[in-house]
Amino acid sequence: MPIGAVTRGTTNTNRLRRVDRFIQTLPVLRRTPDPLVVDLGYGASGVTAFELQARLATVRPDVHVRGLEIAPERVATATAQLKDVRDGRTSFAPDASVDFAVGGFEVPLPGPASRRAAVIRAFNVLRQYDESEVPAAWALMRGRLQPGGMLVEGTCNEVGRVSSWVALDPEGPVSFSISLRLQGLEHPSIVAERLPKALIHRNVPGEPVHRLLADLDRFWQHNAALQTYGPVQRWLATVDSLGAAGWSIRTPRRRQRLGELTVPWAEVAPAS
Ligand SMILES: C[S@@+](CC[C@H](N)C(=O)[O-])C[C@H]1O[C@@H](n2cnc3c(N)ncnc32)[C@H](O)[C@@H]1O
Repeated sequence: MPIGAVTRGTTNTNRLRRVDRFIQTLPVLRRTPDPLVVDLGYGASGVTAFELQARLATVRPDVHVRGLEIAPERVATATAQLKDVRDGRTSFAPDASVDFAVGGFEVPLPGPASRRAAVIRAFNVLRQYDESEVPAAWALMRGRLQPGGMLVEGTCNEVGRVSSWVALDPEGPVSFSISLRLQGLEHPSIVAERLPKALIHRNVPGEPVHRLLADLDRFWQHNAALQTYGPVQRWLATVDSLGAAGWSIRTPRRRQRLGELTVPWAEVAPAS
């Protein structure tokens, strides 16, 4: 039996573009001899798995994406979509290297039992679980990674404009990222509603993630005058202010411009 529970299958075309841009930059994707990527819990349609493959193929042309779903009827739906792709009835490449199978946090993989994934993307999956279930789910998925592989687990809103995720290697959590559409952004703490399950209940005074979101809002406000030059300039100044306040910014400038911010997990990990 796959490990986990069937949850709502909500998904959307282009919803996961922000996290996919992050995954494109992961060193393991370029270095691995076996570019096997898992989309765990792809939902009621396989569209975000096809999109993941198309985006990652731009940096690793031989990437293969395996979509896993705990709900068998969703595997049947995605397999029918795959036939449409193969028959050239969609905008995806007919030979896109994608397949779908039933599976849960145990992450069944094609090929020999020793095979491991380079990357596992689990988006909007743990959101519907209890916080107490996160460590065990993380441990199972991390155990299915290659050396240097990454699990990217997070949450976003329905249209993908507000997004956040934790990146984990086989040993444990490494970093925390947020990615926001800057156009029309009122305050960065909007991401509070879309934090990964491990952090969403920790956005309270005394917890590091609460301090991060409070600092973000404070510096966004301080830099309001820069809005004249556009929200990107205001965001870049906000990120600089965060760095000056002691946060370790891990995001290169060109990715900051996309509204992305990554800090070490150690700086936001729950206090208790
Ligand atoms: C809200 S949808 C997310 C779809 C897509 N990843 C997205 O972000 O748009 C969550 C999906 O995860 C599936 N799911 C939940 N627990 C799972 C598990 N342990 N293993 C595989 N799939 C799971 C549910 O059946 C559901 O279809």
